[in-house]
Amino acid sequence: MGTESLASLVRDDRVQARVYTDPAVFSAELERIFAHAWCYVGHESQVPRPGSFIRAAIANRPLLMVRGEDGGIAVLHNRCPHRGALLVAERCGHVTRFRCPYHAWTFRTDGRLQSVPLPEGYAGIDLEDASLSMQRPPRVAAYRGFVFASLAADGPDLETFLDGTREAIDNIVERSPTGQVEVAGGCFRVRIRNNWKIYLENMHDGLHPMIVHQPSIEPARAVMRRPDPLSPLTEFALAVIAANGQTYETMAGLPVRLFPFGHTEMAAFRANPALDDEFAAYRAELARVRGAERAEALMREARLSTMFYPSASVQATSLQMRVIIPEAVDSTLIEAWTLRLVGAPESLYRRTITLANTVHSPSSVVKHDDVGAYVRVQQGLGGRDAWVDIRRGRNDASTAVSEAYIRNQYRAWRDYMSAA
Ligand code: FES
Repeated sequence: MGTESLASLVRDDRVQARVYTDPAVFSAELERIFAHAWCYVGHESQVPRPGSFIRAAIANRPLLMVRGEDGGIAVLHNRCPHRGALLVAERCGHVTRFRCPYHAWTFRTDGRLQSVPLPEGYAGIDLEDASLSMQRPPRVAAYRGFVFASLAADGPDLETFLDGTREAIDNIVERSPTGQVEVAGGCFRVRIRNNWKIYLENMHDGLHPMIVHQPSIEPARAVMRRPDPLSPLTEFALAVIAANGQTYETMAGLPVRLFPFGHTEMAAFRANPALDDEFAAYRAELARVRGAERAEALMREARLSTMFYPSASVQATSLQMRVIIPEAVDSTLIEAWTLRLVGAPESLYRRTITLANTVHSPSSVVKHDDVGAYVRVQQGLGGRDAWVDIRRGRNDASTAVSEAYIRNQYRAWRDYMSAA
């Protein structure tokens, strides 16, 4: 599709249905948005020692993030330079070398070709040539341990790209008394049968929780009203579910910040669990390490979610990282990872896990209601003459009841899609 026809699909106040349903638009998005932006790959703690790797993907290109022998982190295309086979099928692991399962070419952990069977068949060919190594994305960079890659050789550097949203990462890292954060536990993966942007458009939608999550809000409140004693984690899980029953007035008071490149951030409507009395000693330790004023500010900065458009969203206060992996025009893989503050109490990390189980697990009583809404949007957009309306709150400050953050996403969408 040409640039002009793509740009005509998105206006300041509405979006054409084909943007969510047309495979040609989706292909263009992979090449013009995902292959140009900085996309989140993983956290350095996921590759703790030389040879550790995890799989990732950007713009439908399979990738590996691997810790090299020198301790550095590399991102490599997970594709054999011989005849293109996927080199590694496991999601994570540890190797001393990568060996292609097809014809056994082997590669060092930095991607350089180590050996091929029957090398005499390559007489006159330099097997040291870089084209025979596992290829690398042109740009890889990390911000405080969070690794991003760009498939484009040119563009803003990572810090510029993350402008405005870096504070969310700063907040997470500095809430660790040791200054260290790690990905811990497993990963929830949910494949949703809808376009990736429908998921993003729900990111700061304060108009839906009290509607979509109504089936779980009332039962949670009913259990909380019972006189029977509950474990602290059950109480916490119920409070997380019940918090979706906020009023429109509360949501209208939650600011949503807008940043360049489509990034956005919504203030939290759930309290930071670390403010509970149980964690007084942790807060005192943080005050000793960071200073009382900074520690207090870190505790009070309450972020529901910060969107690194287009590929990830971190929930800084609740320590969750969600990765958005578009697979087809109507299929998106969402990965939800939990973060642990190294040096903080284990019981605080249990809250992080409980929140993940409560809202991000495929079996959560919250998640399936969201997924049902996304799928209904995808189904409802079948007609090509349909338009999606994104005008709400266009004359107001950006809050959780405004669609300003969606308009901000589409400003970035148009910029990427119309770039030469
Ligand atoms: Fe990998 Fe042939 S495709 S060795």
